[in-house]
Amino acid sequence: MSKHLICNESELPLNTMKAVKLDGNNVLVYHIEDGFYATQSSCTHVFAPLKKGKIVDGCKIECPLHRARFDIRSGEVVDWANFPPGIQLLNAVRKEKALATYSVSLEEGNVFVSV
Ligand code: FES
Repeated sequence: MSKHLICNESELPLNTMKAVKLDGNNVLVYHIEDGFYATQSSCTHVFAPLKKGKIVDGCKIECPLHRARFDIRSGEVVDWANFPPGIQLLNAVRKEKALATYSVSLEEGNVFVSV
């Protein structure tokens, strides 16, 4: 496992996210009310880029494509893909799957992610 400096915490304001590539992994780093978190950056449904999605309810990332929602803190699915109507047909083969998460640490105001 290696630890990477992402940025100073002041460069990642509350309710924003930053996409980075760490050792070949596409990672999304978030700053939410509960702190700093990191998940894989592609949706587990059909791999849309979550960096184009939005943070909702202060702690969830919503996929821009079919609106699956994941808890940023745990990666768990909160709501599976539900848009547009009919997407449920695809869900028969694309089952719910949590996002991979990465550990984040804050040291002297700098944000680090370990992958
Ligand atoms: S790709 Fe994210 S919900 Fe379908």
